Amino acid sequence: MPTESPAGPLRVLVFGAAMRADSTNARLAALVARLIADSGATADLATMREFEMPLYDGDAEAAEGVPAGALALRGRLEECEAFVISSPEYNASVPGVLKNAIDWVSRVQPQPFKDKHAMLVSASPSMVGGNRGLWALRVPLEHLGTRVYPDMFSLGMAHQGFTDDGLLTDSGLQQRLAETVEAFLRLVEADTRYVCLQRRWYEFLGDRTEAPVTLRAED
Ligand code: FNR
Repeated sequence: MPTESPAGPLRVLVFGAAMRADSTNARLAALVARLIADSGATADLATMREFEMPLYDGDAEAAEGVPAGALALRGRLEECEAFVISSPEYNASVPGVLKNAIDWVSRVQPQPFKDKHAMLVSASPSMVGGNRGLWALRVPLEHLGTRVYPDMFSLGMAHQGFTDDGLLTDSGLQQRLAETVEAFLRLVEADTRYVCLQRRWYEFLGDRTEAPVTLRAED
């Protein structure tokens, strides 16, 4: 597939959103990064542990600014055209550490989410694979202007879902994941290189930077 252009390969941050060293979401993120690299794009694999930050506190922000971990995550996002988050589901929603990271990063202007494409995947020992958490995760990302890919991928029974070499034990699911990643990269490529979709509608009112779009408040 065409992931090359005069501007070079697409760059995709692939982000495992769990803290656990043995995280199944880290394994799923590593697999997605591998598929991205196989397609000729560049994958930057990261985990939540790399971006240490306190709980969001407006007083701490006023006194000390945005913490280094959030600035580092923002920097990694800025270097990419797209990102993939592999996140667990906690109590049918977004894990607090991930929401906290999104909240901190959204405080940097210009915030980096608004011109990015994202694909969401999850892994869980449950049968539904943490999919409800991904629906909740769409909300803050879309609020911030991210183009969240419609298709998501959730790996149920993830504790027994991987082979020793890091592929999915279910070959049908492995193929579906590979096809979803490829289709996502095609869309990112088309938008980034050729279409450059205009954003006519952008909900995040905290952004006071250029914003060549119609803010919701102005509609
Ligand atoms: C969970 N887990 C969980 N799983 C699920 O499918 N639906 C859920 O609502 C929850 N809720 C939940 C809450 C809390 C506080 C914890 C700690 C865990 C289980 C979770 O999916 C499991 O721990 C995964 O293994 C976490 O992902 P990693 O760490 O393997 O990537």
